[in-house]
Amino acid sequence: LIEIPPGEKSKKLAVIEDLSARLIELGIGRNGFLLAIGGGVVCDITGFLASVYMRGIRSGFISTSLLSQVDASIGGKNGVNIGNAKNMVGTFSQPEFVLCDPDMLQTLPADEYLSGLSEIIKTGAILDEELFTSIESNYDAIIKRDPGLLRELISRSVELKAFVVNEDEYETGLRRILNFGHTFGHVIETIAGQKHGFAVASGMVLAGNISGRLGLLNPSENERLRKLIERFGLLEVFNIPTGDFISMISRDKKKEEDEINFVLIERIGKAVVKKMKPTDLVQLAGSVNVL
Ligand SMILES: NC(=O)c1ccc[n+]([C@@H]2O[C@H](COP(=O)([O-])OP(=O)(O)OC[C@H]3O[C@@H](n4cnc5c(N)ncnc54)[C@H](O)[C@@H]3O)[C@@H](O)[C@H]2O)c1
Repeated sequence: LIEIPPGEKSKKLAVIEDLSARLIELGIGRNGFLLAIGGGVVCDITGFLASVYMRGIRSGFISTSLLSQVDASIGGKNGVNIGNAKNMVGTFSQPEFVLCDPDMLQTLPADEYLSGLSEIIKTGAILDEELFTSIESNYDAIIKRDPGLLRELISRSVELKAFVVNEDEYETGLRRILNFGHTFGHVIETIAGQKHGFAVASGMVLAGNISGRLGLLNPSENERLRKLIERFGLLEVFNIPTGDFISMISRDKKKEEDEINFVLIERIGKAVVKKMKPTDLVQLAGSVNVL
């Protein structure tokens, strides 16, 4: 058993180097197997380590956080941060299995649990109105972490993400829709220090507003999105200068020429991707700090 300190600060190359040295010490060869037990940080680090240690050894994940069960451990992306820049060094590499047990979520701190819920709301918003409605109509059971309901929500989210990844493993098309809420969300996460799912929740509200202003999304559907996010307390205040949004979105690693592929929704359950300039995006978002 090798332990790493919890938190994003462990997602760095120095940790990969230390862990590699430990594996060598332990005599782990090319027939070794790495089993990750933890949240997204542990899965990202283990997935990356397994894909580069001795040019690749086998791995499997036991996902213990909601965010990791419905998102981080599915799809084969892994990696570490370089300074403040998230996930800048990593690979695409699939574990042999991912085990998600809803009972493990009972010990998860409330903010971590809600952060994961935000990604389930995202999956419903972009791909599956039925999933979205099920979150709308099961508020109490979700707050109580009802294992039966969680099993359903997690299975559906995994199924949908796996479908998208099977269609487009290397994110050249369909997989881009999974970034709904993430363009603004990453800026909020980095600058305001909010938890991933909370930052993505604000990013989804901004993307909903932009979809509305472009005439794609009608006001009642936009209100539905905002209301659900608000109801779970996912909107937190942040105060980020407009210029910082523009400069950080302009450095987004998913940028192509001077445009980024921005994810909008036409209705709950249907996403569309549009190439947009960061300045236009921030202008359309309006007052970015007032959601
Ligand atoms: N690779 C991908 O496709 C992908 C997708 C989304 C997010 N991510 C990454 O995932 C990371 C976030 O994942 P996370 O939200 O799981 O964070 P995390 O791994 O830091 O876990 C959050 C906290 O919960 C604790 N924890 C985990 N399981 C627990 C349990 N069952 N009971 C009590 N405490 C528990 C952890 O020790 C940690 O303190 C970020 O680094 C993000 O970049 C990756």
